[in-house]
Amino acid sequence: MAGRGLFSGLFRKKLRVAVLVSGRGSNLGAILKAEREKRITGAKTVLVISDNRDAYALEIARRYGVKAVSIPAANFKTKLEGEPEARYIRALQEAKIDLVVLAGFMRVLKPAFIRAFRGRILNIHPSLLPKYPGLHTHQRALEAGDREAGCTVHFVSEVVDGGKRIIQARVPILPVDNADSLARRVLEREHVILPRAIQLFADGKIDEAAFPDQPIAG
Ligand code: GRF
Repeated sequence: MAGRGLFSGLFRKKLRVAVLVSGRGSNLGAILKAEREKRITGAKTVLVISDNRDAYALEIARRYGVKAVSIPAANFKTKLEGEPEARYIRALQEAKIDLVVLAGFMRVLKPAFIRAFRGRILNIHPSLLPKYPGLHTHQRALEAGDREAGCTVHFVSEVVDGGKRIIQARVPILPVDNADSLARRVLEREHVILPRAIQLFADGKIDEAAFPDQPIAG
């Protein structure tokens, strides 16, 4: 993007971010806190959507004064498709969203959604991708006898958890770890790298097409 001097930086319009969530929303909380503390300056979360009306994440969004809605997708348990998918796309387009962030959104996005926001969807995943796409990442890392684990922010593509990796943070696996203790250690790092990726995106520093194969160390 052109004109990124101090002057244009001060007056440039913030990107409009939507965060999609399904549960407790600690990553959403980390994003909103980073915006409040001006660690994210180029983007502003203006909409939170959950597929689960009881998600605590909705409560967090409202506490920060961010519009929070639930759009059910009950008929498709692990995917977002059909009429619910169309409703999500419509809601995001009506809100003029520039960047969609998946933060614990427990559904796979299908091609129509990805086409609508190509290169503008980020996800946080709790493993060192390409290792352990999908669920139960910490248990799998422990069972494999890995010495380290971590988390990855990546672009969302048609391959589940397979889009270009942007930032990756590593943590050690300790002999006393179980899946819960490891998840807690990794989550702390998630809360750092996801806001950082949003700021990088807003600064025009990460572009899906141009991004190298190697993620930045977080
Ligand atoms: C995180 O571990 C994230 O990596 C994964 O789902 C979890 C969501 O946690 N995709 P929270 O809702 O952000 O607390």
